[in-house]
Amino acid sequence: MSESKVALVTGAMGGIGTAICHSLASDGYTVLATHRPGKESSAQDWLQEEVFSEGRVKTLALDVCDTTACGSTLKDVIEDYGHIDVLVNNAGITRDTTFKRMSFEQWEDVINTNLHSLFNVTQPLFHSMCEQGNGRIINITSINGLKGQFGQANYAAAKAGMIGFTKSLALESARFGVTVNAVAPGYTATPMVAALADDVLDSIKAQIPEKRLATPKEIAESISYLASDAAGFITGETLNINGGQYMH
Ligand code: CAA
Repeated sequence: MSESKVALVTGAMGGIGTAICHSLASDGYTVLATHRPGKESSAQDWLQEEVFSEGRVKTLALDVCDTTACGSTLKDVIEDYGHIDVLVNNAGITRDTTFKRMSFEQWEDVINTNLHSLFNVTQPLFHSMCEQGNGRIINITSINGLKGQFGQANYAAAKAGMIGFTKSLALESARFGVTVNAVAPGYTATPMVAALADDVLDSIKAQIPEKRLATPKEIAESISYLASDAAGFITGETLNINGGQYMH
């Protein structure tokens, strides 16, 4: 049984995921940072490099695409820690290409990792949050789930799906004291965005009124806020953090 509050963050070792772990750890949470099975050694390197305070962050192998494995691993986690207070569904991948060229595999990989993972990871923890009578679920969607993006039919479909999931689960969970919200980052200085071609990135920056990318910390601090007691009356909401690139 953990004395402190416990947060589980999927896709924890990417740019935004790492910043979320820092933010929640400095808020006093014990953070379970999940990574793909088979990546144990890079997870240990990450843990050492990030120097989290007081050993608050622990790594956990979890294939978010595997319904059975998520069910059994998360049952063990609940038994070990006694409670999970915050879930951040952050795991996500891109397989950008025009729809004309998109293979079914590129479609399926993105839908599995970015959308099916919501079922796999959330349901086992949702039961426990409802029983304990409190909890925070925060889903990391994207500006591109709201506005669409050339070359991202798969990613935008999954990210838009996350918003429908957020609103529906918020309706079902309110009576149990569990809030469900989404954060929609715009283009953020992470390895995922750094992988874009220079000319593509330049044309994207030109569309951002603030003329810069978000920092991962600017995204992560909103997750800390939504997890806090101060945000208890916010549910079903999608918080846009995009430097004014898309307003709706
Ligand atoms: N709008 C309209 N037309 C566009 C366009 C756009 N945004 N981008 C490209 N095109 C046109 C090109 O002008 C070109 O037209 P012609 O054939 O007439 O010359 C045609 O589409 C093909 O373009 P490319 O030669 O660039 O095609 P490609 O196959 O080499 O690349 C792509 C396609 C991979 C989708 C590339 O355009 C790309 O990387 N786009 C950016 C996608 C993107 O923003 N991804 C975000 C990743 S980060 C992330 O996802 C995090 C987050 O949540 C924000």
